[in-house]
Amino acid sequence: MPDIAKLQIGENVYEFPLVKGTENEVGIDIKTLRSTTNGVITIDPGFKNTGSCESAITFLDGEKGILRYRGFAIEELAEKASFLEVAYALIFGELPTKEQLEKFHTDIKSKSVVDDDVRKILEAFPKSAHPMGILSSLTSALTAFNPSSVNVDSEEEMYNAIVKILGKFPVLVAWTMRKKSGLPLNYGSKSSGYVENVMKMMFEEPNEEYIINPIIKDALDKLLILHADHEQNCSTSTVRIAGSSHAGLFASLSAGISALWGPLHGGANQAVLEMLEAIKADGGDTKKYMAKAKDKNDPFRLMGFGHRVYKNFDPRATIIKKAADEVLKDLGVEDPILEIARGLEQEALNDPYFVDRKLYPNVDFYSGIIYRAMGIPVEMFTVMFALGRLPGWIAQWKEMRLNKEPIGRPRQIYTGENLRPFQSIEKR
Ligand code: CMC
Repeated sequence: MPDIAKLQIGENVYEFPLVKGTENEVGIDIKTLRSTTNGVITIDPGFKNTGSCESAITFLDGEKGILRYRGFAIEELAEKASFLEVAYALIFGELPTKEQLEKFHTDIKSKSVVDDDVRKILEAFPKSAHPMGILSSLTSALTAFNPSSVNVDSEEEMYNAIVKILGKFPVLVAWTMRKKSGLPLNYGSKSSGYVENVMKMMFEEPNEEYIINPIIKDALDKLLILHADHEQNCSTSTVRIAGSSHAGLFASLSAGISALWGPLHGGANQAVLEMLEAIKADGGDTKKYMAKAKDKNDPFRLMGFGHRVYKNFDPRATIIKKAADEVLKDLGVEDPILEIARGLEQEALNDPYFVDRKLYPNVDFYSGIIYRAMGIPVEMFTVMFALGRLPGWIAQWKEMRLNKEPIGRPRQIYTGENLRPFQSIEKR
């Protein structure tokens, strides 16, 4: 592989260095493009070919279906690690020792109390509010109760901000759900593990001891790990770009939550379940919906299918599909939409439209079926995704600040009116 790329514009040839990653990915470094070419820029809507940064956190090979956090295969992490270990590795670069993990958890627990006034903000939301809107607002509201911005040059301040949000975020997640279900707000217990406590905070009833179901706990741990990072996706890029203006961690996370909400991104898990339910209610005719998905005049898309980067299979979907089978079996839940999902997948895998476009089930296709079997309401699915993605967002925000990346500010090619005179309102 050569070291430079050449670009010819008219008679002029420009040279740009190539950047190589540790997995041999190659990028053309065009930092000097505009200055050397007298104003020429690149256009790449949706950033399909544009790398926004160099990053040492997550490696993803969409052609081969590979996903690794800090060099560890997702399959191995999902099988052997806990969510908190994975969070530590993503944020600090290495898997923790036993002592490091214990200290990390203790520090997180010590910062988990949310200012009681946050309850008042939550109370003001109507019960009909979507939990993602509530979560984004409450995360943003945390800035009001923690006003000092992090001095990123201080390791201690950075660490404190990180354990603070890892402590408080699950409380906000649980409270958004309890707001919906009408249960009194709670804190779970300090003696529980991180994921156990999330479950406790979400499901514990005021008049009953909450017994952790290990099947649900293991499945939730796995789901959170699978969602924990995914390099420069829409919400993570949002977190990085918001943070690049030196907006604080909590404010940047709130922006990321809003980006995650959309049905083409994290909101797909809710959309998948609603789609499967709609197909069931319509008699389970999967062929009809396959035809709709392929019809260019129909806005319907097969939710949970396709991915910007994975063009072979989504390794997270493979793990989740297996987990869905196991969890439903272990819990003794028979969900008819699992059959519909399997049927749709089978048809899509044999349909030239999907095969030619390399559209495969993604992480969101089966996750909702597991969430529902766990007793999590459909509107909370994307909130669960946010809980899983939190360590990834934090790690990416931290990396961006420590790398002293410049403010994210894309350019454009203007296609509007040329200069024209102002007409007074009487003459228009
Ligand atoms: N159903 C039907 N057709 C599809 C689908 C789908 N789910 N996804 C892509 N296509 C078609 C699309 O119409 C286009 O066809 P053509 O070349 O004829 O114009 C082609 O496949 C390429 O699609 P694209 O929209 O240009 O691809 P993209 O990389 O911009 O979008 C995506 C990726 C994930 C937004 C898209 O596949 C999609 O909308 N999927 C459904 C929503 C979904 O499941 N999102 C979750 C993604 S994974 C988790 C996450 O990111 O949070």
